[in-house]
Amino acid sequence: MIAQKKETFLKDYQPPAYLVDRVDLRIELDAQSTLVQSRLLCRPNQQTKKPLVLNGKRLEVVQVALNGSVLTRNRFTFTDGLLTIAHVPAEPFEVAVTTRINPAENTALEGLYLSSGNYCTQCEPEGFRTITCFPDRPDVMSVFTTTVIGDKTSCPVLLANGNLMASGDLDDGRHYATWHDPFPKPSYLFALVAGDLVRISDTFTTRSGRTVALHIYVEARNRDKCGHAMRSLKKAMRWDEEHFGREYDLDLYMIVAVDDFNMGAMENKGLNVFNSKYVLALPETATDADYEGIEAVIAHEYFHNWTGNRITCRDWFQLSLKEGLTVFRDQEFTADMSSRPVKRIEDVNIIRSLQFREDSGPMAHPVRPPSFVEINNFYTLTVYNKGAEVIRMLFTLLGAETFRQGMDIYFDRHDGQAVTCDDFVAAMETAWGKDLSQFKRWYSQAGTPELTVTGHYSAADQQFILEIEQSCPPTRESVVKEPFFMPIAIGLLDENGNALPVNTDAGTGTDTDTKMLILSEQRQQYFFPNITSKPTVSFLRNFSAPVKVHHAQSEEELHRLMTHDTDPFNRWEAGQTLSLRHILEQIANFQHQQPISIRHRLVRGLRDFLLDTDLDPAFTAMAVTLPTENWIGQQMTIIDPVAIFSVRQQFRAQIGLQLRDELLQRYHDLTGDIPYQYNAVEAARRTLRNTCLAYLLAPEIGGRLTPELLQLGTEQYQRSDNMTDSIAALGCVVNADAAAGAALLADFYTKWQHDPLVVDKWLALQAGCSLPGTLEHVKNLTGHASFSIKNPNKVRALIATFCATNHNQFHAADGHGYCFLGDQVIRLDPLNPQIAARMLTPLTQWRRYDPTRQQMMCEQLERIRRQPLVSDDVQEVVDRSLQ
Ligand code: PHE
Ligand code: ZN
Repeated sequence: MIAQKKETFLKDYQPPAYLVDRVDLRIELDAQSTLVQSRLLCRPNQQTKKPLVLNGKRLEVVQVALNGSVLTRNRFTFTDGLLTIAHVPAEPFEVAVTTRINPAENTALEGLYLSSGNYCTQCEPEGFRTITCFPDRPDVMSVFTTTVIGDKTSCPVLLANGNLMASGDLDDGRHYATWHDPFPKPSYLFALVAGDLVRISDTFTTRSGRTVALHIYVEARNRDKCGHAMRSLKKAMRWDEEHFGREYDLDLYMIVAVDDFNMGAMENKGLNVFNSKYVLALPETATDADYEGIEAVIAHEYFHNWTGNRITCRDWFQLSLKEGLTVFRDQEFTADMSSRPVKRIEDVNIIRSLQFREDSGPMAHPVRPPSFVEINNFYTLTVYNKGAEVIRMLFTLLGAETFRQGMDIYFDRHDGQAVTCDDFVAAMETAWGKDLSQFKRWYSQAGTPELTVTGHYSAADQQFILEIEQSCPPTRESVVKEPFFMPIAIGLLDENGNALPVNTDAGTGTDTDTKMLILSEQRQQYFFPNITSKPTVSFLRNFSAPVKVHHAQSEEELHRLMTHDTDPFNRWEAGQTLSLRHILEQIANFQHQQPISIRHRLVRGLRDFLLDTDLDPAFTAMAVTLPTENWIGQQMTIIDPVAIFSVRQQFRAQIGLQLRDELLQRYHDLTGDIPYQYNAVEAARRTLRNTCLAYLLAPEIGGRLTPELLQLGTEQYQRSDNMTDSIAALGCVVNADAAAGAALLADFYTKWQHDPLVVDKWLALQAGCSLPGTLEHVKNLTGHASFSIKNPNKVRALIATFCATNHNQFHAADGHGYCFLGDQVIRLDPLNPQIAARMLTPLTQWRRYDPTRQQMMCEQLERIRRQPLVSDDVQEVVDRSLQ
């Protein structure tokens, strides 16, 4: 079977035949039958006369009129998602379309839908066409005026984009509000919200002295949970002024939190709609990670106002133009708000554990994909996170100042336009004064480049030569890869760990012990004169390019880097490399039924990190954490999830045993004595403390903990005044002792069953449990009162946590994990295709496993494909996976 929807290609892009200068919407809300009247002021965009074609999906067309006269059924057609009017005037004209839609039965959460009884919309990327007929493409930008009409009692709040122009009562128990957004925008940025919500207000004064009203809307029960979101918004607004010279443009900025949302949040002009997970927080309900997530997502959506809304994408192939750039901006913001090195390590972990995997699997695509069937499948780690790495490389190459000039040029040139990634790079070229055409291969070639690094030292010449060779595995869009252009930041250390001079010609790096090399050839050599002893190379500092590195370094060298490198990222990286080596070596033992042991040297290295109180505790926590199971798996030709889990777990248990005194000491030293506060310092302290606890409570496989250690976890759970510490302790106990865990889980549920976001944590903790029997438990939980397959957060908490993070049990040899995922995808697809397609990710990786697992995984993919009504979303992923 082939995909029903046909593939769309970037190379086929055509400018729109008609533009829409103005849109007037009148929306009469009703749960089963909402009436949408739309008037479009259209204008030909081309000389040649073409039919007017509007997109329309999952709606009933009630009436179509052209310049005021109603069109009879023979004057237009409405088939295959297109409303076509064959003959329209050559001059500007007005089209009026009336449609009827059913928000109550909209479980896909795309277009207009109900969440907890409140109306909200999600239009990116192609949801507007399910509300009314429209040229639903981002290069058609219009000024929107929206009148929302709703019941006064059930919908006291009526919102849309822009400024409120008028409001009042109607005589039938309903009322209306008219909103006007003066900034032309594509339809995907349209939003409407209506319901019974309360408003939290604040103001922000921009640097030019304008006052902006800030409104957060939530359900009444969440009224007291918006403080952190509001503070985050104000921080983000100030930061964008200070770092990018960008000021907010409307008089009002609104954020609405809803419980049912497919993604994190949406940057609709002046009216962001958020997954409540990224708004609501109280110390008792949200963890430090949640607080950081809220700050980052609020900032991300706010930053979109300039990178996404004022300057938008010409077409969806250019998605990374707004997403890669905005992720880069939110990463920089978070780095400034907390610890820059730790933030970098977190982001690199995402890239290497998840994006590299995507880039080597069947869904691999360039940052700018050349084609898609369902654009919703391309909101990916590649477009977002690798896209941000591409921007970061430009930042590294140009330097902060020139990069900022490039951004200013971009904003000046393209404000109010829908543009391409080429336009962005062109602005950077203007600022830099150098050609970036080779650099642009990052946008067109998929796959992760691999670098092989060799060093040659000549004592006689006092010269060091570094040789780098690059290659990139074939991917769907290009089998043969042209060399990439990338910045490689390096340093050299002498045998005592002191920095050797490398910056003889004062490169772009601000510090003198880092040299920025440019790699552009397939193989290149770099010469370092006046090097008096054989150096240790600190390669790819701060992860200056998103690549895999093959670099044979001795343990001595890695230890030297771990203790002495001036680049914190590479200090961490050296430790990871060392751990990775030892883990892989023991995985081989495990596979040959040999006993597993941890090398003393590794434990000592971790101990040094642990006891170094000069380090930022958040950094220490990262440094003592072993490489992720995903990243370990990436190193193996055939991923053996059981061996990976077993060895890693055994290492953790051993570290806990061998460093018990040190861990306990730090655990107690890090105990805070003030009530919970969210700030970088306090959060770092809690992170390391909970990392210590997790080691102390890490059981050997099949082993039992001492009652004293279990008690340590239980006590922290009971005494803590905040969710960070209680959920961390709960997690430790649940993963260490089934009986003790069950008792605390019951207590937790009783306490928090009324709070959906906390219940998500409760579900995720159980789904991620590494003790045996989790699958049965997860299956039972799908029938629990707190679970709903219609709520994406619940599906992610329970099903995705099990299938995408509990590798050991999801990949159990009996194949029951695969079968479970197959069942869930089949159940979910008719309800919410976007989420169903995302859930499939673990199965798409089947080629990486042994033949028996491969076969069982493929069986599930085949089974899903055989279902009578497969969505385009799921179909595309399954087809690509089985190709
Ligand atoms: N554009 C949103 C963001 O990155 C993400 C999103 C995409 C939300 C599609 C909903 C639907 O901020
Ligand atoms: Zn975004």
